[in-house]
Amino acid sequence: MRSDVKIKRIGVLTSGGDAPGMNAALRAVIRTAHRKKIEVVGILNGYSGLLEGNTKVLSKRDGSYIINRGGTILYTARSEVFKTPEGVKQGAEMCRKLELDGLIVLGGDGTFRGAYDLANEGIPCVGIPCTIDNDVCCTDKTIGFDTAMNTVVELADKIRDTGESHSRCIIIEVMGRKAGDIALHTAVAIGATCAVVPEYPFDRDELVNKIINSRAGGKKNFLIVVAEGLGKDYGIELAKYIEEKTNIESRFSCFGYTQRGGSPSLSDRVLASTMGCAAVYALLDGCVGDVVVSKGSSIETVEMKYAIQLERLAKGKMTEAEKSELSPGTFYEMSKTLADRMAYKSYLKGVIEKLSL
Ligand code: F6P
Repeated sequence: MRSDVKIKRIGVLTSGGDAPGMNAALRAVIRTAHRKKIEVVGILNGYSGLLEGNTKVLSKRDGSYIINRGGTILYTARSEVFKTPEGVKQGAEMCRKLELDGLIVLGGDGTFRGAYDLANEGIPCVGIPCTIDNDVCCTDKTIGFDTAMNTVVELADKIRDTGESHSRCIIIEVMGRKAGDIALHTAVAIGATCAVVPEYPFDRDELVNKIINSRAGGKKNFLIVVAEGLGKDYGIELAKYIEEKTNIESRFSCFGYTQRGGSPSLSDRVLASTMGCAAVYALLDGCVGDVVVSKGSSIETVEMKYAIQLERLAKGKMTEAEKSELSPGTFYEMSKTLADRMAYKSYLKGVIEKLSL
């Protein structure tokens, strides 16, 4: 669907968990909009701020010197009220009161669900995928993912020094919600013995045998990456089990929220700048409910409805009735996208196994 409303004033907000590169994307939105003579209203504290009408007009200069900054200058929140139909109606009413011709939302899957509801209330919305988890299936990459992984690599390299000195096994827990993307990529990059992720079954005795054999072959330190999606205390229990079965001193370290902060990497800055720019053009082109995505080397848009359906399919939440409403071509395309993502994860898992001795 397309709108022919002339875009003169837009809102922008950041919602959900912050991600390094959000500010770089905001800068791109601010700069592109001002070039196109569009006024930009920053909404503070995500959807909660929208409900309260907590706003700040963003001048050209508000985009200055933020490309390098972590966090979000608009602050963020997770709003429970906005998840209700009344909350959405109130949000749409506020957009009209603020005279917004469109809204750009930066966040993950939950943020887009909110924006989709707003779009259905007549507010043109465009989403920019920002989350360190990389768990937005319609895009190859999300803003913040690369920086978070670089943080993990930097910390893991340090931890390895002490692991080697003490001949220990160290279990590192990384973020990612239910997705193992951070764990699998970083495990390759730090030369981990193994990555344990929610996507695949794991045999801890196989790992124990591998560690025993590697130690016999002279290996001193072991790094095991576990994804937080496996549950609280999973890594602690695994460390205990390994120590008990191998007699190798084992320690647990949760990298936690450090992964969400810091100056964005080059790759995230480029992604954020291109996506921020594309989001403004999408509104100018009449998009009413779309998400900006990265596909191979290009930046494109997909319908928000498609993005949300794809998530439901990925999480096994799509009902048979919903599936039957999709055209065979769309269903095939969605299944292929998800299969390709899984194939890549399997490939990374294979690489980790092949490279650890
Ligand atoms: O989605 C980003 C993320 O950091 C996840 O990796 C993590 O599970 C979650 O947010 C933590 O959320 P909160 O900031 O609400 O504790």
